[in-house]
Amino acid sequence: MNLIVAVDRNWAIGYRNNLLVKIPADQRFFRNETLHKAVIMGRKTLESFPGGMPLKDRLNVVITSDPNYSVADAAVVNSIEKALEVVKDYKPEDIYVIGGESIYRQMLPLCDTAHVTKIDYVYKADTYFPNLDEMDDWQVTGESDEQTYHDLIYTFYRYERIKK
Ligand SMILES: NC(=O)c1ccc[n+]([C@@H]2O[C@H](COP(=O)([O-])OP(=O)(O)OC[C@H]3O[C@@H](n4cnc5c(N)ncnc54)[C@H](OP(=O)(O)O)[C@@H]3O)[C@@H](O)[C@H]2O)c1
Repeated sequence: MNLIVAVDRNWAIGYRNNLLVKIPADQRFFRNETLHKAVIMGRKTLESFPGGMPLKDRLNVVITSDPNYSVADAAVVNSIEKALEVVKDYKPEDIYVIGGESIYRQMLPLCDTAHVTKIDYVYKADTYFPNLDEMDDWQVTGESDEQTYHDLIYTFYRYERIKK
């Protein structure tokens, strides 16, 4: 199972239920990776999307503790376990955990590949991703050239869990 995330220099991921920055090429990368796959997200991340709408052409699985929550074109579940049940017919490599912080933290142990866009800047933030560079069981297995968007520098990394 995959994780996909964009982080700043401090592994920050969001502020006031929004992304820190929108980089068109990173958004394209996200779309290309996840299209026609299953994406698992927390209720707050869904609500951060334009109009609070699920992503098109993907199986959207939304996790909330609210038993009455419902969204058109998404599977709403009340636990991580139920989310895994909904995606059970997908190959693990076709399942993407897409945030936010609370879902990343709970599902990181279940993932073996992380697609991390590192943005070389420090933003004001209130949500963070665990620093994979400080974890013994994750290693970088791929790295793009440095990319630029206006005066921002960012790089696409692939991390994989070290098999023991
Ligand atoms: N940089 C990136 O790549 C990226 C990607 C995604 C999101 N983000 C950012 O991350 C921030 C949101 O992160 P967040 O941690 O605040 O919210 P979140 O993880 O998106 O959603 C949290 C909500 O998910 C539900 N939830 C979580 N664990 C659950 C469980 N075990 N069982 C039942 N429900 C559960 C709860 O919903 P209820 O309150 O309804 O019970 C909880 O309030 C935003 O700023 C967003 O823009 C960044």
